[in-house]
Amino acid sequence: MIREIIWTDEYSVGVEAIDAQHRELTRLVNEIVTNQDDLISTGDLSKSFAKFLKLVKEHFQFEEKLLSENNYPDYEKHLMEHNSYAEMIAEFIESANQGQSHLVDHFILFLHGWWRHHVLEEDMKYKQFLNERDIR
Ligand SMILES: [Fe+2]
Repeated sequence: MIREIIWTDEYSVGVEAIDAQHRELTRLVNEIVTNQDDLISTGDLSKSFAKFLKLVKEHFQFEEKLLSENNYPDYEKHLMEHNSYAEMIAEFIESANQGQSHLVDHFILFLHGWWRHHVLEEDMKYKQFLNERDIR
């Protein structure tokens, strides 16, 4: 059984606005984890995936702007990861629109993967870079 993502200070990238966005995204992940049965029975799955995509895209744009303005050396790689995550979520929405309700399990797994591999690894790589430039 996949659990909720419980925020701890270890997850902080040291930039207040990004931490707030990450926390908001975990709140949405947890909402999906908690309400998955209801989401399937009410047919609100694609709506809920779309809500996540909207929020995550806003967050990606914020991060990308900050990283590009500061000439982050791995900007291109980071941008490509964002784009591919956004594309994958769009595919989930498409499948949910076709009534594939079992997708909720895959989507939650995907969200946990995004959290572990992108937020806790890739985002952490810019932590020191931005903090050294006094961006908090
Ligand atoms: Fe990122």
